[in-house]
Amino acid sequence: MTLVNFLWAVAVSTCLGYSTAQTVTQSQQQMSVQETESVTLDCTYDTRASNYYLFWYKQPPSGELIFIIRQDDFKQQNVTENRFSVNFQKAAKSFSLRISDSQLDDAALYFCALSGP
Ligand SMILES: *[C@@H]1O[C@H](CO)[C@@H](O)[C@H](O)[C@H]1NC(C)=O
Repeated sequence: MTLVNFLWAVAVSTCLGYSTAQTVTQSQQQMSVQETESVTLDCTYDTRASNYYLFWYKQPPSGELIFIIRQDDFKQQNVTENRFSVNFQKAAKSFSLRISDSQLDDAALYFCALSGP
């Protein structure tokens, strides 16, 4: 078994084309899990937008930014994509990513992002 390392950006904040401040906060710094285990990456956010999209991206050591998953705020279901799923709690402004069956190439820097209207 090999350890899979997950890294977080401390507090990535993006706000393109929207005048009010929007933030996303990732408070975990680094996590390691055994291969095949599951891991959950937390993200909370703040926005005054009434419609927005939430995203998770990963940046492996090779450097490119890879899109993982997108959740529309009005969707009543948590989005799932293969081994990736989210736990979106709109009232709590929480958007965590769960990775199941961790594999070595999951080791990366993970970014939570928010896009307003
Ligand atoms: C996502 O799943 C969690 C845990 O089951 C649940 O509390 C939450 O309401 C779900 N979110 C949506 C948008 O369905």
